[in-house]
Amino acid sequence: MRYSRIAGTGGYLPERVLTNADLARMVDTTDEWIVDRTGVRKRHIAAEGETTCDLAEHASRRALEAAGVGPGDIDLVVVGTATPDMIFPSTACLLQERLDIHDGPAFDLQAVCTGFLYALDIADKFIRTGSADRALVVGAETFSRIVDWTDRSTCVLFGDGAGAVVIEAAEVPGIVSTHLHADGRYQSLLNVPSGVSRRCDGAGSGYIQMAGSEVFRAAVKALDRIVDETLAANRLAKTDIDWLVPHQANTRIIAATAKKLDLPMSRVVLTVEDHANTSAASVPLALDCAVRDGRIRRGELLLLEAFGGGFTWGSALVRY
Ligand code: UT7
Repeated sequence: MRYSRIAGTGGYLPERVLTNADLARMVDTTDEWIVDRTGVRKRHIAAEGETTCDLAEHASRRALEAAGVGPGDIDLVVVGTATPDMIFPSTACLLQERLDIHDGPAFDLQAVCTGFLYALDIADKFIRTGSADRALVVGAETFSRIVDWTDRSTCVLFGDGAGAVVIEAAEVPGIVSTHLHADGRYQSLLNVPSGVSRRCDGAGSGYIQMAGSEVFRAAVKALDRIVDETLAANRLAKTDIDWLVPHQANTRIIAATAKKLDLPMSRVVLTVEDHANTSAASVPLALDCAVRDGRIRRGELLLLEAFGGGFTWGSALVRY
């Protein structure tokens, strides 16, 4: 059998930091409210002119270096993003050019906050079926560009960043299983309602709109179910999981998933405090942080999960 494994990880956050105190000067909010309700203390914001592809390039170079491979070794590029540089070409094609990778397929994947898990699932299948040997899988976002900075209910939640992994063919499973879902009936609860075909149909419609508490409840329920699904599919007990690497939308959502897994918070990778919600970048960024600081070690079993607009949600069980 042929499988894929993670060979290296990388992450990148833009230099500029926006704290809760900064936000309290922009909208009617407080550090206390933001920390209590979300866990976020600060977020990174891309500089003017700095794009999703710029962030993706930094994260990708770090992942390539960690994997000990060069651009010529990559035969597939998949970028999970809801904030591409251009309508087309895809950010993956722009990234390919930057990194001097040629000829292999490159495409973007849009599943909002679940984008990295969708991208990982697809790249794993390319490798398992022999269509690729080594893939660069990226989650990269500049959500600061679709945030309404006058809307306190959303602007405190998001940040910019990128995370990347290099995955390669292996004889034993590194990506053990992936589980993806979507349900478009919930599209109205979390969206940016303008687009190419629909165009902008009113003031503010180019910005994130979210029914926060409904999304919160749906996220907790969906992530609870995906934990059961992932464990059952692999005939595992909760105690088999070494680390939870969750999407970083809200500490309270993450704590509910950890409780479901009977995992202490010391076994959960938390970056929401410093990164806020970076959408598709949040899971690979959290993974990279915990790999680089030595918490996650080779051979450990990781549960990656995410939930986002669509709704989309998913998980990956990874033997690192
Ligand atoms: O990554 C994609 C998935 N996204 C998520 O998972 C996000 C899910 N939702 C959430 O994380 C939470 O629902 C939020 C953090 C967005 C909001 O927390 P909440 O506990 O659900 O608060 P709420 O929306 O019910 O609002 C409570 C109150 C309201 O005031 P009233 O109506 O009770 O007087 C809001 O107007 O808090 C008010 N509020 C704020 N107050 C101070 C909303 N935003 C703010 C703010 N500062 N920034």
